[in-house]
Amino acid sequence: MTFVSTDRAFRLGVLGSGKGSNFVAIADACQQGRLAAEVAVVISDVPEAGILEHARSRGIPAQYLAPGKFRTKLDEAAEHEYVIALQRHHVDLIVLAGFMRIIKSPFLQAFPQRVVNIHPSLLPAFPGLFAWKQAWEYGVRYTGCTVHLVDAGVDSGPILGQRVVEVRPNDTPESLHARIQVAEHELYPSAIQEYLHSGRKWEGRRLVG
Ligand code: GRF
Repeated sequence: MTFVSTDRAFRLGVLGSGKGSNFVAIADACQQGRLAAEVAVVISDVPEAGILEHARSRGIPAQYLAPGKFRTKLDEAAEHEYVIALQRHHVDLIVLAGFMRIIKSPFLQAFPQRVVNIHPSLLPAFPGLFAWKQAWEYGVRYTGCTVHLVDAGVDSGPILGQRVVEVRPNDTPESLHARIQVAEHELYPSAIQEYLHSGRKWEGRRLVG
């Protein structure tokens, strides 16, 4: 898949549940021209999430959308609301930035190959929650972060980019996570830029051309 360039900037729809440091890195990159795109809307499933505050302080439309009755995914009605809201903002790419719910196939079918995520490990190692803690407990010498397309599995879609972070002997899970986040803030905007603008094609899990 490639993105067809238009006479307007690519529009990103960012979903997040937490403090929003990756959103800030992406919005900064857009402002500074390192990422040729604009954040069209930020949506959160947590009304008091920091990501909404960050968006509002930058004048970017930000809204809470109720997730429905489940804890780890959106229910059907909520998923529909999310899709409608993102379509209303004419987004080209959905950027998951700490969104703590699994995205199911009706949502993915509405935006085929247009949902990306960042995960705090070198996938396919340590999918799932608290990946930095999993890596620290396992005792790996290197971990990092991965930007990938979202498919129907958990942290399993084709990989767009990775950064390596060394585990230091005196690290705690928290100090390791802090350095992984620094790497995330560099990786995420540049991986999105490459996905939108390189004109390179994806066949299955592989980048060709
Ligand atoms: C990041 O560590 C990301 O890898 C994970 O959720 C965290 C979000 O952090 N998916 P923030 O809200 O962007 O600060």
